[in-house]
Amino acid sequence: MAILLQDLSLTSKGILAFFALYIVYQIVRLSAQFYRHNSIIKKNGCKPVATYPHRDPIFGLDIFLENSKLTKTGGFWDRVRERYLALDCWTFSQLLLGTRVINTAEPENIKAMLATQFKDFELPPRRKEALQPIFGHGIFTTDGKEWEASRALLRPNFSRNQIADIETFEHHVSAMISWIPKDETTVDLQELFFMLTLDSATEFLFGKSTSVLEGDVTNEEGVKFGEAFNYATARMSLQTRLGKLAVILPDKKFKDSVNLIHEYVQNYVQKALHKKSLTLETPGEANSRRYVFLEELAKTGYSEKKIQDELLNILLAGRDTTAGLLSYLFHYLARRPDVFDKLRAEVVALGNDQPTFEDMKGMKYLQYCLNETLRMQPIVPSNFRFAIKDTTLPVGGGPDGKSPIFVKAGTQVNYQVYVMHRRKDLYGEDALEFKPERWENLRPSWHFLPFNGGPRICIGQQFALTEASYATIRILQAFKRIEPRDSSILTEAMTLTMAPRNGVKVGLIPA
Ligand code: HEM
Repeated sequence: MAILLQDLSLTSKGILAFFALYIVYQIVRLSAQFYRHNSIIKKNGCKPVATYPHRDPIFGLDIFLENSKLTKTGGFWDRVRERYLALDCWTFSQLLLGTRVINTAEPENIKAMLATQFKDFELPPRRKEALQPIFGHGIFTTDGKEWEASRALLRPNFSRNQIADIETFEHHVSAMISWIPKDETTVDLQELFFMLTLDSATEFLFGKSTSVLEGDVTNEEGVKFGEAFNYATARMSLQTRLGKLAVILPDKKFKDSVNLIHEYVQNYVQKALHKKSLTLETPGEANSRRYVFLEELAKTGYSEKKIQDELLNILLAGRDTTAGLLSYLFHYLARRPDVFDKLRAEVVALGNDQPTFEDMKGMKYLQYCLNETLRMQPIVPSNFRFAIKDTTLPVGGGPDGKSPIFVKAGTQVNYQVYVMHRRKDLYGEDALEFKPERWENLRPSWHFLPFNGGPRICIGQQFALTEASYATIRILQAFKRIEPRDSSILTEAMTLTMAPRNGVKVGLIPA
């Protein structure tokens, strides 16, 4: 008994010693951290950033619950903008389920994260956790060396020759136009735009289109793929926002959709790899055939899984975005006959032929309209980065918001392009008006960022603008007028990107 008691007291002494050591260790660690942080703050003249006055100062549930509601009803991004206006600053910190994050709508801060201090920031773990189960390790879901390798692999496939495959666009755009009623009855153009971008992106990537616009019942597989893709991306958007919380909401349909997506793409990748192993092409043959992204990747010797991942990454990045841009553009065109007429005059000057790449480049007003749509409705309205070391951002500190701010390693910084694009101090008092003419004198810089900037700038920008321009020109050649058939207030539907919540219901009058 005495030995047992002695043992116990030895054990408790051991535990006490362990705790004492742990406390000393923590004191030393925190003091060193405090010293390190303070020296960065002093050296850079950092000042405190404004903080959001939460009603729940522990978890910030007030914003979280309000945001969850707005995701369902729309009005999310306008409310985010109002929070900035109420605080009268363009950078502030808030709580996200108990963790402090920084929000910014300052071009200088965004430029620092995306370009000048690129190495201090990465994608947040939440984005990777949500996307990697479906999209694996590809350009859109990785960082560091892995991302560099993806970017180097994919970049050459986005050269002008590849993206200017006007014949492919023509095929899908004319299939889409055939769905637009010629008797002026109402049509939801947004539905057609989402079908168009799925068909054209899958053709460009896999060499075989989902052909959902062909209305071909034999192509049930493509239609199912489209549905599964829509469902999976909507669910992933929830996961990106909620993080691990989303995992407690089991979803069989999501699992089934992911399996279907993988099987569909695997099938094409296997076919391409098999074809490559059977054929040896002469350069002449290679020049004369149609460009297929997957076939080019198959030549690189990368594994089947890697190729599948990259294809899905590009489909994710490229499909909804271009459809969103076209949807918003036609929303505005339907409500602004002055803009429609001016744009149509530029289109009509081309005649009725298929526009060439050069024609499209020369259409100034079309470019103004696309820029203005992307300014008012940046399809990726907000994005985030994660500080991987203690660092600073150039502005947002002090009462005037002009001093640098300290950003602790592990902090998430959200940058709201939507808010920045509507700043009156950057765009003038008419910043909330859709006004393509403003682009006559505006030069895009870091305050206009629909495609991101720096090393991770959108790789498909030219593809998107070419497809959107081509579709717009062909529609305006075929129809001389457009009428809105929906009086609801414009608000957004949020998935990983955004698009008009109520679609784009219009009537079109044939030319
Ligand atoms: C209007 C249409 C589009 C918009 C507004 C848009 C916007 C963006 C934005 C904001 C990013 C940065 C995302 C981030 O780093 O977090 C991005 C990246 C990317 N985009 Fe686009 N995009 C569009 C169309 C396309 C198209 C058509 C493709 C491909 C066919 C594409 C492929 C990509 C890829 C692969 C990335 C990742 C680049 C990297 O991380 O290195 N995008 N895009």
